[in-house]
Amino acid sequence: MAVHDERAMGRALEVGEAGRRTAPPNPWVGCVLLRDGEVVGEGFHEQPGAPHAEVAALAAAGERARDATAIVTLEPCSHTGRTGPCTDALLDAGVSRVVVALEDPDLRVAGTGIGKLRELGVTVDVGVGALAAARSLAPYLHHRRTGRAYCVVKTATSLDGRTAAADGTSRWITGPEARADAHELRADSQAVVIGSGTALADRPALTPRDVAEPVMRAPLRVVLDARGRVPADGPLFDTTLAPTLVLTTDAAAAAAADAWRAAGAKVETLPPGGDATGVDLTAALDLLGRHGVLQAMVEGGATLHGALLDAGLADRLVAYVAPVVLGPDGRTAFGGPGPQTVTQAPRWTLLSSGARGDDVRLEYERARERGDG
Ligand SMILES: NC(=O)c1ccc[n+]([C@@H]2O[C@H](COP(=O)([O-])OP(=O)(O)OC[C@H]3O[C@@H](n4cnc5c(N)ncnc54)[C@H](OP(=O)(O)O)[C@@H]3O)[C@@H](O)[C@H]2O)c1
Repeated sequence: MAVHDERAMGRALEVGEAGRRTAPPNPWVGCVLLRDGEVVGEGFHEQPGAPHAEVAALAAAGERARDATAIVTLEPCSHTGRTGPCTDALLDAGVSRVVVALEDPDLRVAGTGIGKLRELGVTVDVGVGALAAARSLAPYLHHRRTGRAYCVVKTATSLDGRTAAADGTSRWITGPEARADAHELRADSQAVVIGSGTALADRPALTPRDVAEPVMRAPLRVVLDARGRVPADGPLFDTTLAPTLVLTTDAAAAAAADAWRAAGAKVETLPPGGDATGVDLTAALDLLGRHGVLQAMVEGGATLHGALLDAGLADRLVAYVAPVVLGPDGRTAFGGPGPQTVTQAPRWTLLSSGARGDDVRLEYERARERGDG
């Protein structure tokens, strides 16, 4: 049974991934119904307001759901939102056992779904495939636990960790496959964030282009510009491409904020950062969380990357490494002072590695602490 459960949970996670771009701010849950070891139904949560994964799987299984085991990546809900409680749907369909990877930290659920099923005589096993589920659903879990957007820092560097040559040229260090992959990462995010230095130097569009699965809504483009240095023109302020949000402080002139607003961007004033420079990064990620951003992808530059690392706010790193050496005068990927000694440097856990053309993609998460889901 345990082997069946593990394998079916792997499948449920795969099924749930289909909702990653469309379900947020809800979780991309997957469900597999097993009867006598055979899959009788599968479902995922496609988008807010649509049936939850359990209900979709029950609909696929029909009568065959009776006495089945439901394998579900996240605790079934027991409250009525836009759709009815999944616990009731499972009970009504005659499901006899439920296997859950993770308890749902959302305060409207938080153990009540599991409790209700057990009270009504359903066997519930919790924790099967928990680590893989925690990694798959990390942005959602982080958002519900902290209220903050999950921060994914993306870098594209040479073999010696440089993002640009000595003269500042950086187009293109990585090849087309790695760049295409980075667009997929944008499409998986609800916000793409840059510092004012990158906005000024690159004037990027920050939209996901040529991605495999269509995005329902282009991610919110976010510029951190404490002093109002970024002019309200160029692709970033073409809000027909995607919405734009500027996070600034009282140090910016009112005229700058007026110009951003006139261009169609939203503007929010936050406290300054700890040493009175920049925008307070915790406040920025909190604000994005309140805007329903589960995953914020940070695309530069080095100053912002370094500040996020120093503040312990980077949750995941995606590093594309190109087969080229740019030398000691090239620009680094992470600014700031960095640690004084190697033992002070936080360690990261490798989640995946693989080739993208001639480049390598490395994905890391912050080393997990005891009690992390
Ligand atoms: N090859 C690549 O992959 C890649 C990717 C991105 C960028 N780049 C290059 O990197 C260069 C820009 O990098 P950069 O380091 O100069 O600039 P940056 O990191 O993009 O922006 C830094 C600026 O952001 C603002 N900011 C606001 N809040 C902040 C905070 N809490 N912490 C840090 N910064 C904050 C600050 O200016 P205010 O105080 O004025 O707000 C700061 O000076 C460009 O040349 C660009 O082409 C390369």
